[in-house]
Formats: sequence, C-alpha cells, structure tokens
Amino acid sequence: MNHPLFDLTGKRALVTGASRGIGRAVAIGLAAAGADLALQGRDAQALADTVASVREARSSVWVSTHFCDLRDTDGISRLVADVLAEGPVDTLVNNAGMNIRVPALSVSVAQWQAVLDTDLRGAFFIAQQVGQHMVERRQGSIINISSVGGLVALRTGVAYGAAKAGVIQMTKVLAMEWGKYGVRVNGIAPWYFRTPLSEQVLSDLQYYGEVVSRTPLGRVGEVQELVGPVVFLASNAASYVTGHTLTVDGGMSIFGF
Ligand SMILES: NC(=O)c1ccc[n+]([C@@H]2O[C@H](COP(=O)([O-])OP(=O)(O)OC[C@H]3O[C@@H](n4cnc5c(N)ncnc54)[C@H](OP(=O)(O)O)[C@@H]3O)[C@@H](O)[C@H]2O)c1
Repeated sequence: MNHPLFDLTGKRALVTGASRGIGRAVAIGLAAAGADLALQGRDAQALADTVASVREARSSVWVSTHFCDLRDTDGISRLVADVLAEGPVDTLVNNAGMNIRVPALSVSVAQWQAVLDTDLRGAFFIAQQVGQHMVERRQGSIINISSVGGLVALRTGVAYGAAKAGVIQMTKVLAMEWGKYGVRVNGIAPWYFRTPLSEQVLSDLQYYGEVVSRTPLGRVGEVQELVGPVVFLASNAASYVTGHTLTVDGGMSIFGF
C-alpha cells in the first residue's frame, strides 16, 4: 500500500455495514491506506470493536460512528447529514446488506421487502445523498458491494439476486449520470467470503464442498482479500475506471462446466 497511487491520506470514507464481516475488514484496510472514516452500523458494541481494530491499523486515524437502519429512508437522511456535518466524504463504500434464503415459490411480501429495502433501496438512497454532495464537490468515488448473485443464478434466492442485479445496474446508471461531475461509481461482486452472513451455510460441509468445487481457486475468500479491490477503486489508481463491477470470486463466475 506504499505506492502513492493507492495512498488515501487526506481522504475520508463512509463505510456502511462496518460493524462486522466485509465492512469491518474494508474499514481497517482503508485506514491502513491513510483514509479517515465514518462508520455506520446498528450494533454499538460490534461497531466499537471495529473502531478498536481500525485504531490498531493506524493510531492517527480520525473515525466517527453512526447508527441507522438502512430500511428507514429518513434515517438515511439523518445519517448522511450527520456524516457531512463532520466534513466532506471522498469515498462511499455501500456495503451493508442482508439476505433471507427462501425458495422462490415461498417468498412472502415481507421477506421480499426486507431484502430489497436493505440491499437495493437503502443502497440507492445513500448513494443519492452522498452523490449529491460529491457532484457539488466535483469529485468522489462510490463503491457498491453487490454479489456474483447479481450476475449468475445462485441458491441464495430470488430476492437477493434481484437486489444485487439491481445494484450492478444502478452502478452503471449512476456512473453515466455523474461522470461529467468527476464522480466515479463502481462495484464489487464477491463470491463466498467467510463472514457472519455466510458462516451458517458454509458450516454445512457438503454445501461448502460444492462451493469450492465450482471455484477455480479452490477455496472461499478471506475478507482481507476485498481490501485491495476497494482501496484500488477508491484511489487515484482507478481514476479512469467508472461503471465497472469487479468480480472478486476466485474465478467462480467464469466457471462454465
Ligand atoms: N459474505 C459473503 O460471502 C458475501 C458474498 C457476496 C456479497 N456479500 C455482500 O457483502 C456485504 C457485506 O456482507 P457481510 O458478509 O459482511 O455481512 P454481515 O457480516 O452480515 O454484515 C452485514 C453488515 O450490514 C449491516 N446491516 C445489515 N442490515 C442492515 C440494515 N437494515 N440497516 C443497517 N445496517 C445493516 C450490519 O449491521 P449490524 O450488524 O450493526 O446490524 C452489518 O454491519 C453485503 O452487502 C452482502 O450482500 C457478501
């Protein structure tokens, strides 16, 4: 992370879903690359644990914490206002997400809404409000965490697939609309990474075996392996990259047989 192109010193990033899993790893990685942080979550103790790890990575980091449920659009407005009252945001990592795994024939309206409201509606309205700020500043980078489930059909379910496909398409449209203002919008589509979200399904050894058998690199990802892609997309190294969703999937999505 020493190359100046990847140096995020003087930049500030808002990371949603930073209380655990991928968001926590990304927050630690952004701090190590020099960024200051605003972290969102719902679980205060878990977010405090992330802050402690972030400070271990770089003791001089400036970090604030914010609590909101992303299904509440008024809460999103308050979150973004609070974060911007502290200072400008250079990078948004739109990471918070959840899933309810249900076969398509059994999905209820409440389940559909819970997944779509968190993973797509919440992601859009955060991007819209932070994007407004970035457009006014004529700079900024938004990184939307989708999933390979937005690219190919997965057993993770129809609501999650629809939401994550929506995030990938949203990424392209926002990149097209905001490019002229110097705002880049990209995404990352992970395959399985070991986190609280995935640990239950990955603890089923038969399922785990099927997952790795379809993964050219022969294993699931470790959350630290998402740090490089996020730092790259946040940094000047990606200054001419926009509208792209980068698969970080051990090759899973190109596996044709
Ligand atoms: N892990 C994987 O294998 C994998 C693969 C592909 C894509 N992804 C995507 O990567 C992102 C992070 O996943 P993860 O595995 O790190 O999940 P995780 O460990 O379950 O963490 C999810 C984070 O999102 C926050 N969150 C969830 N629902 C929220 C809501 N309604 N309002 C506010 N915050 C909410 C949680 O906050 P609290 O804990 O504070 O409630 C937590 O910080 C998600 O978008 C997920 O879809 C993960």
